[in-house]
Amino acid sequence: MKTRQNLNLKKYTFALAMGWTLIMVASLIWNVSQVKLETLETAHIQARVAHEKDLIYRRWNTDHSGVYVPVTEKTKPNPYLVGIPEREITTPAGKLLTLMNPAYMIRQVYELESDISDVRSHLTSLKPIKPENTPDPWERKALESFERGEKEVASLDSIEGREYFRFMMPFYTEKGCLKCHAKQGYKENDIRGGISVSIPMTPLWNVSTAATWRLTLIHTTIWIIGLAGLMIGYVRINKSEQKRNEAETELEKAYTNVEKKVEERTRELQKEIEERVHAEQTAQEFAMQWQTTMDAVGDAMYILDINNKILRSNKLMSELFEKKESEMIGKHCWEIVHGRKTPLPECPVLRMKETLKRENFELAIGDRWYDIAVDPLLNDDGTLMGAVHIIRDNTGRKLVEEKIKSQLDELVRWQKLMLNREDRVIELKKEVNELLKQLGKENRYRN
Ligand code: HEC
Repeated sequence: MKTRQNLNLKKYTFALAMGWTLIMVASLIWNVSQVKLETLETAHIQARVAHEKDLIYRRWNTDHSGVYVPVTEKTKPNPYLVGIPEREITTPAGKLLTLMNPAYMIRQVYELESDISDVRSHLTSLKPIKPENTPDPWERKALESFERGEKEVASLDSIEGREYFRFMMPFYTEKGCLKCHAKQGYKENDIRGGISVSIPMTPLWNVSTAATWRLTLIHTTIWIIGLAGLMIGYVRINKSEQKRNEAETELEKAYTNVEKKVEERTRELQKEIEERVHAEQTAQEFAMQWQTTMDAVGDAMYILDINNKILRSNKLMSELFEKKESEMIGKHCWEIVHGRKTPLPECPVLRMKETLKRENFELAIGDRWYDIAVDPLLNDDGTLMGAVHIIRDNTGRKLVEEKIKSQLDELVRWQKLMLNREDRVIELKKEVNELLKQLGKENRYRN
């Protein structure tokens, strides 16, 4: 997990570095290309300016329909102007002047230009009068495209192995041109030719190369700063990640500990529950046994708590008072037995509480007699916990007792009557003894 996170961070950082590098490279490429475009634009502007200047020179000449200049070694009369009236004139002082047409003039200007500057200009035409004015391949293409309606041609080209920005615009035939060019068949607005201007690129490229280097340097610096920042970030995050991992491991440990404890406690709890279920079962079994035992007792029976309230009762008790055990539990015994809110003054339960010994009481309910016995339930240390309250139906015994009593009376009477009848006496004595025995009393007579 730790190494995976580390790997992720590494990957992430690497991706960021790659992204950053790409951004910087893209920015550099864009900027450099922008510099190149600007350089070309500069060349374009230079070319246009030069071109305009040339046109203005020419126009000046054209506006004068050519100008007269002194004939010198360098400036000979233009042979192509043969047939033009007054090609040469002589001043009153006898100086010879010759007519200089715009093309001738511009050619001389260009010659001067070529001495002081690398900029090249060339007047040319697809149908040149003068062979020197024949276009080179680039110019020919441009002129041809003017015939197809192009207004301007500009591009990089190499001349004598050097790079130039070349620019050319069409040169339309105007009215003033017809004086000399009408014989070639030109009409107004025909494309007569064009002036091409070539700006040398080397000095411009030098400037732009310097700019490119500067940009490269700036970009590299920013790129390195960015990468350094990224590295610092990586190291820091990695450190904090390590710390976090440590904390996590610690936490995990703690977690495992807690989990273990939970497991332990769960096991304990299960055991506890099992034991409780077992205890409950035992208690239930015990309660059932208890109930069975209580029910097996031939007498109606209550177990009372310390407050004389019924804790348990047996089946005979339910039969005796025609109440379910659940109806009796929690009530005072006197509510059930006597239907009273308070105990009887002679209540054996109260007496037992004082004596802590068995207390008896004889009670008539309806036409039946009951023997009530209350036994204390004592703790090991002799304190009272409750009581066992037994109600025994004594009616039968009472009847027997009464019957025996009346029989006894009759026997006594008979005894008196049969005093002399020894055998009978003995027999009667036996009978009396027997009856007394039934009453649980001692023999009255000896056999
Ligand atoms: C005074 C006469 C004269 C006038 C006006 C004149 N040109 Fe020319 N132009 C010439 C002669 C002659 C040449 C050929 C030789 C040269 O270079 O001198 C020539 C050459 C040219 C050339 C070079 C191609 C070639 O045929 O050798 C062009 C393009 C040209 N002229 C355009 C014009 C235009 C456009 C006008 C009007 C704005 C004009 N010229 C006005 C006499 C004239």
